[in-house]
Amino acid sequence: MGAVDGGRGVTRLAPLLSTTLDQRAMEIARAAAAMILEGHAGGTSSEGAATRGWEQRFATWLEGGPVRAFGSGRAALFAVAKALGLGPGDGVIVPAFTCQSVLNALRYTGAEPQYADIETDAFGLDIDAVNAAIGPRTRALLLQHTFGLIGRDIDALLTLAQERQLLVIEDCAHALGATWKGRKLGRLGDGAIFSFERGKVLSTVHGGMAVVHSPEAAARLEDWADETPLPDQQQLGSQLASVVHDYWTQVADDREKADWAHRQFASTLIPRMWPEEFDGRYCSHYRERMADVVADLAQSQFDRLDEVLSRRRAQAAAWQIWADASGARTAKVIAGSQPAWLRFPIWVDAGTKAEPAALERELGVELGLWFTSPAHPVPSPQAHCPRGMDACARVVNLPTLLPVGHPYSSG
Ligand SMILES: Cc1ncc(COP(=O)(O)O)c(C=O)c1O
Repeated sequence: MGAVDGGRGVTRLAPLLSTTLDQRAMEIARAAAAMILEGHAGGTSSEGAATRGWEQRFATWLEGGPVRAFGSGRAALFAVAKALGLGPGDGVIVPAFTCQSVLNALRYTGAEPQYADIETDAFGLDIDAVNAAIGPRTRALLLQHTFGLIGRDIDALLTLAQERQLLVIEDCAHALGATWKGRKLGRLGDGAIFSFERGKVLSTVHGGMAVVHSPEAAARLEDWADETPLPDQQQLGSQLASVVHDYWTQVADDREKADWAHRQFASTLIPRMWPEEFDGRYCSHYRERMADVVADLAQSQFDRLDEVLSRRRAQAAAWQIWADASGARTAKVIAGSQPAWLRFPIWVDAGTKAEPAALERELGVELGLWFTSPAHPVPSPQAHCPRGMDACARVVNLPTLLPVGHPYSSG
């Protein structure tokens, strides 16, 4: 990597987490959290009206639908898989570069994930590997748009799915706002999910959207969502506390408030994964709807989506210039695609991925390690997928929202 004055102007590492929370979002969360503490039904008081409005706005934006909002991307994936009729005995081809929550959501339907190797231009499924992996039980392909990129073989995969009559689920957890041939991702297959988890394009700490495109699946999605409960008040309070915490620790550079937020909320922060997820046991959080206050938080940031995307894209261009100068291997943007650039992936040696602190100091940023295994973070070696295993060992990712004034910031 090129010589870099790691300390130059950097008082703290630029965070990986989405820094799209603004003061308005923080105030919404703080007010609702206070109501919950006082014993009122914070976040549920408009009885679903805010969430319905958000779902309709999202469907209009996507030009597809219906869209239903859930407590997380994983809950949205469970819902889409059910709505598409996946169940026991069905195989779903997944890339050998994904996370445990994706596998869990599919398995909870009774379906079985079937790993296929990825290509290493843009971390999508490799068409030859998919052809080899398709078996008599295969019913669906999961197209994961990793880091917000569009996979090299997208065209061939969509054609193959059509020829073999396979369902296509797009995992747009990283790819809100990305396009391919002028079409928004999320409209290319039979269904799709989006995420607002704290590391995603926009963040409500937890949250997700589900969309399906056929009338039969739509009816099933609506029924599923209507029968899905809201999170309980304690959990919602902990999510809102996490929003306030993330704002003071990640966004506003105010040491005193950040220290206060750490002290105040350390014990109530919502986890990224619940214990039962690690070993694949059923986790009830995969069956939760989005509360009204979370829909308000999502909408307040969605107003700024175009601005956030152009900042991320400009930062990716800046990282590319840095990578070209320092010899770092990067991803390829396929013709006709406009990535969301949730993160900027680079290849490093395995030692650096295992011990990234020196590179973090050199660049002045936190490094993302997605994915460290094909079922991140749970070890799951897949010997028949050497490129996915290699990416797990050697690909790290850089944040694409850097604070103004950071030495590597694009603007
Ligand atoms: C590719 C991908 N899909 C789906 C998810 C699940 O989204 P969520 O964290 O909102 O449940 C994640 C994880 O965060 C992810 O990285």
